[in-house]
Amino acid sequence: MSPPDPGKIPQHVAIIMDGNGRWARQRGLPRLEGHRRGVETVRTVVDAAREIGIRYITLYAFSAENWSRPTDEVSGLMGLLDYFLKRELDNLVKNRVRLRTIGRTEALPASVQRELARVVEATKDFPDWNLVLALNYGSRTEVAAAARDYAIAVRDGTEKLEDASWEKFSRYLDTTGLPDPDLLIRTSGELRISNFLLLQLAYAELVFTPVLWPDFGQADLQAAVDEYTRRERRYGQTSEQIQTGEK
Ligand code: IPE
Ligand code: IPE
Ligand code: MG
Repeated sequence: MSPPDPGKIPQHVAIIMDGNGRWARQRGLPRLEGHRRGVETVRTVVDAAREIGIRYITLYAFSAENWSRPTDEVSGLMGLLDYFLKRELDNLVKNRVRLRTIGRTEALPASVQRELARVVEATKDFPDWNLVLALNYGSRTEVAAAARDYAIAVRDGTEKLEDASWEKFSRYLDTTGLPDPDLLIRTSGELRISNFLLLQLAYAELVFTPVLWPDFGQADLQAAVDEYTRRERRYGQTSEQIQTGEK
């Protein structure tokens, strides 16, 4: 195994934060206690990402499918989101971290939308560090909406059908302006993508860890980044081409 190359820190890390419920169940605690501990992990991981030099971190916090959970769990999660935003505003400003969201935030409770707007506005001019929260996010819904908006732009003449390309289409996705994730981490041992950034992850390196999200810490993030730096991203080329830099 070759040592990690410090020159290859991922620019954008996306995380499927999973395992809060199992963490709680293992301790005989209510599921919401797992989510509470999960919120503490978010701060740890955002700080650790900055220390490592990761410029963009995207966290899958609530999927479009998560509305189908028991009502008290959904309202508990919304309450925690509200609490997180209120509590983190000062920390984000102090550390110059810009907050953005992807997903249909217009369906979130009005109080959460207000807090989100406040934090997004207060941090909008920070260029270096970026925290992206995926809230009421689902990749297929995002892509369908982008296809619709692109079609409308063609109909209205702002886009030309003959120019259609991924480059143009991707501007209609929620992630417009963000680089594609280099590394995807999923905690809790589940080996699936769960409708997260399906197109944007096209060439991401995938790292799955059995660690449950409330137990995930700086060392686990560092281990995933180390694993990433040992991988060879080939983008369809041969290993020889990558190593010699020849076409
Ligand atoms: C992830 O933990 C948090 C959200 C999906 C909001 P889970 O709640 O999915 O935890 P498990 O999968 O039940 O352990
Ligand atoms: C994915 O986790 C969504 C989030 C982490 C917010 P889930 O726990 O909801 O995913 P599934 O249902 O196990 O695929
Ligand atoms: Mg889960």
